[in-house]
Amino acid sequence: MISKDTIERVFSTLQIEEVIGDFVQLKRSGANYKGLSPFSDEKTPSFMVSPAKGIWKDFSSGKGGNAVTFVMEIEHCSYPEAIRYIARKYNIDIEETEVSPQVKEAAQERDSLYIVTEYAASWFKEQMHSTSAGRNIALSYFRSRDINDAMIERFALGYCPDAWDSFTQNAIAAGYKKEYLEKTGLTIFREDGKAMDRFRSRVIFPIHTFSGRIAGFGGRTMQSEKTIAKYLNSPESDIYHKSDILYGIYQSKNAIIKQDSCYLVEGYMDVISLHQSGIENVVASSGTSLTEGQIRQIKRLTQNITVLYDGDAAGIRASFRGIDMLLSAGMNVRVLSFPDGDDPDSFARKHTATELKEYLEGQRTDFIDFKARMLLDEAQGDPILKSRLVRDIVVSISKISDHIKRELYIKQCSRIMDVSEASLFRELSQIDHHNAREYQQAALRAANREAAAARLKVAREGENTREEDTYIRRLEEDIISILLNHTHLPIHMEEVIDTVDENGKPQQEKHSYDTTVVEEVIDSLSADGISFTDSTLSIVYNGIKSAYDAGEEISHHLFLTSDNTDVITAVSDIMADPPALHNWNKVGVDVIDFKYIAHTYTRDLILRYRVVMVDKMIKETEKEISQLQGEGKHDEELIKKLMMLKNISTRLNKELGGRVV
Ligand code: UTP
Ligand code: MN
Repeated sequence: MISKDTIERVFSTLQIEEVIGDFVQLKRSGANYKGLSPFSDEKTPSFMVSPAKGIWKDFSSGKGGNAVTFVMEIEHCSYPEAIRYIARKYNIDIEETEVSPQVKEAAQERDSLYIVTEYAASWFKEQMHSTSAGRNIALSYFRSRDINDAMIERFALGYCPDAWDSFTQNAIAAGYKKEYLEKTGLTIFREDGKAMDRFRSRVIFPIHTFSGRIAGFGGRTMQSEKTIAKYLNSPESDIYHKSDILYGIYQSKNAIIKQDSCYLVEGYMDVISLHQSGIENVVASSGTSLTEGQIRQIKRLTQNITVLYDGDAAGIRASFRGIDMLLSAGMNVRVLSFPDGDDPDSFARKHTATELKEYLEGQRTDFIDFKARMLLDEAQGDPILKSRLVRDIVVSISKISDHIKRELYIKQCSRIMDVSEASLFRELSQIDHHNAREYQQAALRAANREAAAARLKVAREGENTREEDTYIRRLEEDIISILLNHTHLPIHMEEVIDTVDENGKPQQEKHSYDTTVVEEVIDSLSADGISFTDSTLSIVYNGIKSAYDAGEEISHHLFLTSDNTDVITAVSDIMADPPALHNWNKVGVDVIDFKYIAHTYTRDLILRYRVVMVDKMIKETEKEISQLQGEGKHDEELIKKLMMLKNISTRLNKELGGRVV
């Protein structure tokens, strides 16, 4: 039993924020501290610690208490275990009121198991340092792998001698019960009653819990025969749950908190080697794939994780599932791979600490980016494979719950994999039923944006190659197409008008109105006094305009009985293959319900058309002016017209430029 004095000393020494700070990343918030609840999966902090009152409260789970009850909750341990833990943290000697075999027996079972593993760890350590076999075999092995004394001490490395049952005999002689030796897996009792040390003839890596108790061991053989398992680990027990083990968490947690990031490696040696090179925020999954339990422990400390791979691609692929779990947990995941044949341990040994640090910081890449590139390489231009892999990456993105992050990733993948954002959003809406509607709409918005960008590109190409007339004709076809196909479709338009405020200062006013496709097109083209350049299309446009002015029905039938065969051909072509959809298909967007994009599309089309037409008029006017100048004449009206056109052009270009990103 722990003496009353010890308990009082523990309470008077501890600082609640320091005790809790070992488990939860705390940020100061006024007189208190705040952090993410370690008892739930929350994303916004509702966990509060008050140093003045010595209490904590977790608003998400409703739990609360003092420093000791916190340790009990988080470590699932008893009251005396929690007191021992805090005492150890503050180097307070524990005064036991009585130490007898009876007391040992009466103690909680888990406590007993820990007492056995801690005894074993110290015995293994002693074997390595104070026996000649220990020094010759184990210590020299660690030295041959360049592990220094500080690391041997920090990770409490040890040795179990090459004898049948020397550990078990010593433990029993020291008063430890067979039952606990068996339950911790340190001893294997055969049917004939003979005892066997599980870790005999192996170097020992004790595995610490989050709070520094010893849950179990990893033992590495010194032999290189393939028939012998390289590592043996403790079996499952009340204190050793393989799926919750994160090797190095105890030694690394402070650095993880301080740097707000964590490296994840595979093996014991990787953790130790990186620590020796000054990278102290590192844990190992111990060769298994990541589990929820492991992720929870990391998440208590940081949201930022970098997974370190050794070079082989199969291993990398195999890890993708675990990484999706990290994304689901709301972590920011980066990955990094080492050159062929190197693992973090071997790489760290070949390079200086500075080089290693630079490599880690320089090479780590965002996971989604990494995965997209890797899958793209794999697809190698095979479209069927590619579409499967695209789905694969969208599945990863769907694990992220932060919507802004998702959108950013969609954009990024669209760029890397050369797939339209719209398709990715649609894929996402299929995977993520929960948010399907939202992503359908995002798909539409993206399609809209992409189509506008594609048209702009076509426009620029047109300008560059001086195929201005072709470009104008294409726009005119598009205009006829929406006039005939979507004549009275209602659209909601927004425009920015330049005005002046009461002090005469120029300002911009947003103005919106409801109209229809035909109204919008005809009104805005009339405003600039624009008429079509293509003679055939001009006939069609004027026909539509007079039907509109006369309040008659507008349809392609108006033209199909024309005696002008060019008109019939042009109108049938436009009806058969609406040019308005050309650009959509070009960017890989399926035909989309036009009504969703009608307003942007119409506005965009008219704006573009007005820009090129006004520019054309400017060029013509300039030509006229210079011709007159050649004849020694000067026309004030023409100059005024030119000024006005230039003003319009500037305004339209500004509007166009401001809209298309
Ligand atoms: P590695 O074989 O990569 O181990 O397995 P390592 O740490 O690099 O060891 P060295 O460098 O050869 O000494 C990675 C991890 O997988 C687990 C261990 O946790 C190991 O650290 N493992 C591996 C086992 O549990 N059993 C095995 O037989 C092998
Ligand atoms: Mn290794």
